[in-house]
Formats: sequence, structure tokens, C-alpha cells
Amino acid sequence: MLNTNRIDYKKDLEEVIFMFDGGANLDITHNQVTEGNLFYDEFVLNGEKFTFKNEKNCENLIVLKRFEKRFSKLGLYKILTNYFGENLPWGALTGIRPVKMATTLGANFENEFKKVFEVTDKKIQIVKDIVNVQKNIVDYNGDYEDFFVGIPFCPSRCAYCSFVSEEIGRSKNADEYVNALVTEIENTLPLVKNVRSIYVGGGTPVSISNENLEKILTSLSPLVKSAKEFTVEAGRPDCINEEKLSLLKKYGVTRICVNPQTFHDKTLKLIGRNHTVSEIYEKFALCKKFGFIINTDLIAGLPNEDFFDFKFSVDTAISLGAENITVHTLCLKKGSKLKEQVERLKISKINEMVDYAYDVLTKNGYNPYYLYRQKYTAGNLENVGYAKKGYECLYNANVMEEYSNNIACGANAVSKRVFNLEDRIERYGAPKDIKTYINKVPEIIKNKQELYK
Ligand SMILES: C[S@@+](CC[C@H](N)C(=O)[O-])C[C@H]1O[C@@H](n2cnc3c(N)ncnc32)[C@H](O)[C@@H]1O
Ligand code: SF4
Repeated sequence: MLNTNRIDYKKDLEEVIFMFDGGANLDITHNQVTEGNLFYDEFVLNGEKFTFKNEKNCENLIVLKRFEKRFSKLGLYKILTNYFGENLPWGALTGIRPVKMATTLGANFENEFKKVFEVTDKKIQIVKDIVNVQKNIVDYNGDYEDFFVGIPFCPSRCAYCSFVSEEIGRSKNADEYVNALVTEIENTLPLVKNVRSIYVGGGTPVSISNENLEKILTSLSPLVKSAKEFTVEAGRPDCINEEKLSLLKKYGVTRICVNPQTFHDKTLKLIGRNHTVSEIYEKFALCKKFGFIINTDLIAGLPNEDFFDFKFSVDTAISLGAENITVHTLCLKKGSKLKEQVERLKISKINEMVDYAYDVLTKNGYNPYYLYRQKYTAGNLENVGYAKKGYECLYNANVMEEYSNNIACGANAVSKRVFNLEDRIERYGAPKDIKTYINKVPEIIKNKQELYK
């Protein structure tokens, strides 16, 4: 429990507490007091008092407020590091987009990450690598659009996942959804001026019927010529077949995802993925035959997997020669089956797994090119996309760094209009629920027109 006199950043402080074992049984009081040019952060943790003194170092009120907040977070982080006897990889740094923060801080980022947040050298290095790659692929004044289409259906629900999706075999909504989606896409196309990438994600986009998939691909045809890349997150090997791949090829798709998550049958079964390891190899080879650029998703820390299980999966993905390998760290998501089974993720050697992925992938010519963090992730770690040079997914980097507009269609899709010069973003999110989405498509179209007018 936290009490603070700075309610304006109570949430940030709570995030720091949560990173340590969920903040179990902690009773913390915080007061920040200013005296002339000095400010004091006083914490009482389970009855013990700690005080930190800092000097106000600038006149700009907004910058000063940020500075004060950062030092409160660091003070709390220091106390908790001592209390729990562990340092965290990202130190006191919270938030989804550390790379964006580093880009904003510019040359000073390393110093600030180290001194103000106590981020470890390993994480500073990966951020540095990514900033360097992104200089060549991200346009920081992005006057263009990335176009997203969401298909919320899957063959079955994976135990760790909380994405909005219905089981395709049971859902009665797929046809109606696709019709509504096509209407939305057709009415959204006039908002697009300079498309850079198209991304059809999910769920599992190829779990729907060929007919429905073709309707969606047809509606996207006017964009394909101008786009630099066209990705379909095919995803589940059990939904990939020659017919689906022929369709994707016919409509100009350049990149697809074939996601193993793991190369162990025992784990695939445990997480409810309904496909085998041999099917991953088979479908991967089929996709290669069609000439797609392939991304494979892996997850570190899956149930009952140890360091060597994960190492084997990373090594195997490399040996297959996927152009992109995305390494997620298991995250305990509200609404997932896993969350019903465990309260907290405590995964032995999770840091070693993630470090191994970085070491072996970079040695084999894969560079990290985008990264994001999520709350409730094992070890407070991160998700990282690695790519061979020249094969980075522009969409992934753009959507994470938010320097370009994102026009999104589908249930739960979030459109963003970026005003780079004013350093602000306006967002519009469509309803999550599939039925509500279907019923509200005319209103959704209007709201997006308003956002982009
Ligand atoms: C939107 S999902 C779609 C992928 C596709 N449907 C599939 O399963 O192959 C994108 C990726 O997020 C990752 N993911 C989803 N839930 C996760 C979780 N709780 N922890 C870590 N990674 C997760 C998985 O690697 C997954 O491939
Ligand atoms: S991981 Fe993919 S297939 Fe599994 S439930 Fe989530 S979106 Fe669907």
C-alpha cells in the first residue's frame, strides 16, 4: 500500500513497487517536500525511514516536475532494491517505449539511463543498437501512414494470450465481421495519402475462410502498389496451407509470420496451440517456397521450460534462417488462462534466457530493431524484434516509436494521428467487442474521418 503527498505521480511510484514481487505486503508512505532550492523525498517502508535530498536544477516548470518525479522513482527503487536484495534490468525506468525515450534524450540518454534510472549496461547496449538501426528505417518526421487491419479470430486460444479473439470454429460472427471490416476499410482508404506499410494482424488472420480472406485482401488492393511492405501475421502453422499462401502472394503480401513460440511439443500442448513442432518445420518450408520474408515469434519463460529448452528454440529458429526473429518474454495477462493458474510469474534463469537470445542472435547477423516493455512481464524484461540487415519490419518499428500516423481498421484497432512538430498524438480506439464493433461501423468511420480531417 502506498500513501504519497504527490498524488500526481502516485501511479508511477506504484509501478515501481509492482516491479518488485508485485509489491507484496509493503506499506509505504512517501512525502516530497521543497525547501528553497532543495527538495526532499522521504519514504517510510514498513516503519523504517529513508530520506533523499536533491537540488532543483532548472527553472522550466515542466522539466522540473519531470526531474522531481524521476528522483522520487529512483529513491523508491533504491530502497526496494535493498529490501528485496535484487537489481532490475531496467532499474527504475517504467513505460512501454524506452527506445523512444532514448531517442528523445539524444546523446545524453546513456548518462540519464544509468544515473537517473540505474538501467543496466546490457539494456543500455540493446537500446543503443536499436537507435542505430532505427536511424536508417524510421523517419522521425514521418509524413506518411501505416495501415493496420485486425482480424480477431484464432483456431484455439493459447494459455498465455489475452488478445481480443474468438475461436473460429465456434464463432458465428466471422462473416458479419468481415463484411463490416471491408466496409470500414473501403471508407477509410480516402484518408490515406502516403501509405508506407500495411499490416494485417490478429488474432490469426489466416484462420478465416479463403473467401473472407480474399474479400479483405481485395479491399486493400488500392494501397498495395504504394506500400513498401505488406505483412500478414499468418501466425499459427496449423492455419497455413498452399491455398492461403497463394492468396497472400496473389494480393501482393511480402512478409508473413510463422510463429513457433517454442520448438518443444510438450510445451505446445501445454499452452494449447494445437500444432506440432514438425508442422512448424513443414509450414516454414512451404512459406519459404512461396518466397515470403518470414518472421518467427518465440517466447522466453513458457511454462515448464528451462534455459536449455529456450536455447534450443532460439538456435532452431536461427538454423531455419528466418529473416526476423521476435523474442517475447512471457507476460502474465489479465484474461488469459495462465492468469487463472498463477498469481505471479517467477521464472528461473529468465534473465539468462533473454541475454542468451541477444548474444546468439547478434552473433548470427540478427540486429535488434524494435523493443517494447509490458507490465507483468517475467523478470521485468522486454520484447525485442531482431532482423537481418535490410529485413526489418517497418510497421513494427513505426508503431512502436510513433513518429508516423497509424490508420487502423477492425475491432479494438487504435488509430493514431501524430503531430510531430507539436510533440503530441491523438488517438481513436474502436470497440473491443466484436458484436459491438459490427454494429458501430458507421460511427467508427465517422470518428476516424474526424481524427484525420
Ligand atoms: C497478436 S499475437 C498473434 C500471433 C498469432 N496469432 C500466433 O499466435 O502465432 C503476437 C505475438 O504476441 C506474443 N504473445 C502473446 N501473448 C503473450 C504473452 N502473454 N506473453 C508473451 N508473449 C505473448 C506471441 O509470441 C504472439 O505470437
Ligand atoms: S497467441 Fe495467437 S493464436 Fe494464440 S490466442 Fe493469441 S492471437 Fe490467437
